[in-house]
Amino acid sequence: MQVVVEPPAFRRALCRARAEGERIGLVPTMGSLHAGHRALMALAAAAHRHVAVSIFVNPLQFDRPEDLAGYPRDLGADLRACEEAGVATVFAPSDADMLPSGTATSVSVAGLGDRWEGSSRPGHLAGVATVVAKLFSLAGPCAAYFGEKDFQQLALVRRMAADLSMPVEVVGCPTVREPDGLALSSRNALLSPAERRAATVLWRALEAGRAAVAEGEDRPETVASAMSGTITAEPLASVDYAAAVDAADLTVPASLSQPAALRLLVAARIGSVRLIDNCAAPRPAEPVEDDRGLTAARAS
Ligand code: PAF
Repeated sequence: MQVVVEPPAFRRALCRARAEGERIGLVPTMGSLHAGHRALMALAAAAHRHVAVSIFVNPLQFDRPEDLAGYPRDLGADLRACEEAGVATVFAPSDADMLPSGTATSVSVAGLGDRWEGSSRPGHLAGVATVVAKLFSLAGPCAAYFGEKDFQQLALVRRMAADLSMPVEVVGCPTVREPDGLALSSRNALLSPAERRAATVLWRALEAGRAAVAEGEDRPETVASAMSGTITAEPLASVDYAAAVDAADLTVPASLSQPAALRLLVAARIGSVRLIDNCAAPRPAEPVEDDRGLTAARAS
């Protein structure tokens, strides 16, 4: 496994691999790798001989300085996880390498980038799009793997890659969950034991919303209330948003019978830790797939 820190070295490494006939699977991360990332690396490795992982805690996507300062980091452990996953190239640039002073270009995706996470965390999604655009530019033709846990991020990156004709196939991968339903996230490490127990409320809220949709509820506000009511009943939790949306553009439809597919979104604070989650919501006539995602044990 080669570890490169400078952007031109990363570009050269992947150009060389392509010249040798290898197909590249890219897994962009902010480190603190857990079973969710391991599942992304495994999916990338199943389809591509050369897996590249980027590890960069992107300051542009943090709307609160204390959030950036407290973000868990352990490069040594991350490199071991990459090695175990058979990763060929790790790109671990410094802030100055990735965002040199004088950087003046920002990528924003209108509409998709403005709602939900876009309005709750101003600048966050533009920060994501800007850094992912830079990673795609350095990586060149590849398939890039993103978790469905950040469903809006996945939709936004897909839109951006299509709009800007980037030579990147964006692949979405199922959310990996703990057995009690909590979606894996690097932020879970910041929860106290009591908060960790309370954090299952996000999944419980999604299940309440999903049950309402499965029973034929077609008013988005009623499904949203079922979800936010579940969250508010948990003393350690406060709701940021809960919504039933069109899975394509994440807008709230007039009736839940209209969109081709529905998605339920929740964001909540558990103590001071902000968590998000989402799931598909089949309507009565639609096939019910198991949307619990992968469990952490199965994914590792
Ligand atoms: O999902 C993440 O870890 C980050 O948002 C990403 C895609 C690596 C961009 O910094």
